[in-house]
Order: sequence, then C-alpha cells, then structure tokens
Amino acid sequence: MMAGRLENKVAIVTGGADGIGRAISILYAQEGAKVCIADINDELAGQVVAEIASFGGKAMFAHTDISDPASIAAMVNQTVETLGEPQVLVNNAGFITFTDDPATLDRATWKKIFSVNLEGMWECSRAVLPFMRKAGEGVIVNLGSVHSFQIVGGHFPYAITKHGVIGLTRSLAVEYGPENIRVNALCPGMVETPTAMATWAAMDDPEGVRKAVGDLHPLRRNASCEEMAYPALFLATHESSFMTGQSLIVDGGRSAFYSD
Ligand SMILES: NC(=O)c1ccc[n+]([C@@H]2O[C@H](COP(=O)([O-])OP(=O)(O)OC[C@H]3O[C@@H](n4cnc5c(N)ncnc54)[C@H](O)[C@@H]3O)[C@@H](O)[C@H]2O)c1
Repeated sequence: MMAGRLENKVAIVTGGADGIGRAISILYAQEGAKVCIADINDELAGQVVAEIASFGGKAMFAHTDISDPASIAAMVNQTVETLGEPQVLVNNAGFITFTDDPATLDRATWKKIFSVNLEGMWECSRAVLPFMRKAGEGVIVNLGSVHSFQIVGGHFPYAITKHGVIGLTRSLAVEYGPENIRVNALCPGMVETPTAMATWAAMDDPEGVRKAVGDLHPLRRNASCEEMAYPALFLATHESSFMTGQSLIVDGGRSAFYSD
C-alpha cells in the first residue's frame, strides 16, 4: 500500500469541526496525518474525531478559541503531548459579517472579527513557529477568500480581514522562507458549507439564492467543502515545495469574471 501524502506529519486545523476545516481535517487524516482539531464547537469536533477514528485515522480535539492566545498555547501544548510537534498548521477558523452600512458597525464586532480572522491566524502561527524552526521545516495554510482581492458590497469589514490574510501570508513567507517554512493562502469562492446552506434555508427562496450565488462563478455552481480540501492538501505536501507567499485561488473562475 502507498504511504499517505502526509504520513508521520502532525497537523493542526483551526475551525476543523465544521465546513471547509472539517473536510480538510478528514482528508489530511486519510493521507496519514495526525490531526488536532482546534475549535470552539465541542460537539461537532467530537463527531469529526469519531469519523476519523472510524477509518483508522488519528485525531484529537482541543477546545480552542483562537482569539485568546492562552487558549492557543494550551491547544499547542496538548497537541505536542498527544500527537507530537506540529509541522503543518491550517489557519482556517474565521467568520463572515454582513453589514449594510459600515458606519453603523459597532466597535465590539469590528474588534471581534479582527481578533479571530486575522490576529487569531497570527497567534496560531506564532505558537507553532518554534517547533517548525526547530525542525527546519513547516507549512502554514491560511484561508483567504475572493474577498481577499475584491470588495463585494455589504461584507464590511470581513473583506478587510481577508485582505490582511494575504499580507500576513506574504510577510511570514518572506520572514521564514530562509528556515524552510512555507506559507500560502487558499482563497475559495462560495463553498456550500452546512452553515451557508442553513443561512439560505432560512430565506424565502433557498434554491433561487443558491443558484444566483452559483451563477457568479463561470462554472455556474458553488463549491463543495471537499473541493477546498484537495488544494489545501496540495499546499501542505511536498508537491508544492517551491511555492510560498502565494494565493491559490480556487473560485470556479469567479475572479476572472466581470459583469456590468
Ligand atoms: N464558506 C465559504 O464560502 C468561504 C469562502 C471563502 C473563504 N472562506 C473562509 O474559509 C474558512 C472556513 O469557513 P467555513 O465557511 O468553512 O466556516 P464554518 O462556519 O462552516 O466553520 C468555521 C469553524 O470555525 C470555528 N470557529 C469559529 N470561531 C472560532 C474561534 N474563535 N476559535 C476556534 N474556532 C472557531 C467554528 O466553530 C466552525 O467549526 C474561513 O476563514 C472563511 O472565511 C469560506
């Protein structure tokens, strides 16, 4: 039997309990990685760990709020004790905001989204970097978005945090490239996560909305979570060994499409 593409690797996936992170956690485990699911949702994280165990994979759950550096430190310690020192970090946890008028946004929401979507990525990176530097190897995959490059009205300040993710990615790639630590961003178009589907289900015409959003992509549909897991696997393996500081845009052609 061929060895998995992440055999003997320890990977931390933030937000690994649901959506894109869940698919990445499962695929990484299928490819032989030992995976720590770092998430605030204990129930869903437990289900992912059980699913990974059902095919003989190895995973653990660490209750983690990535907006809290102490919580991140505890998670990394737990990972090292249980699975070993991490060589792979997927900074996936994040959330979106819908804001009609930026001027009405309250300060608490502004601070919260930056503390999760941007600072959280940096603090998780900071916490695993010592192990990567010691090992002389490491891979960090940050979840950007089509919102990392374009402003879609009504999502303030989500797009600002996602623009920042690209800056963080490029900065860390430059700073730590000489130590063989690669940092790239994965930038999805619309992905049909359970949360997205539930949001649409609460609307008047869920199928109409789903189709309208899908039609923004030249492939005329939205992505599945698994369609993000494969590019995230590529970015974590030797197959992308000369790639760092880049954004892998996996958006069904959405960013190539201009409509007036
Ligand atoms: N779904 C999309 O269409 C889409 C498109 C582009 C980019 N993204 C990005 O992909 C990433 C994953 O998105 P998703 O749609 O799969 O999200 P999701 O809401 O389906 O899942 C997010 C997971 O992160 C966890 N989480 C949230 N806040 C956390 C915190 N403070 N600490 C730890 N865990 C936390 C949640 O519990 C959940 O398990 C995000 O960074 C998002 O911005 C998503």
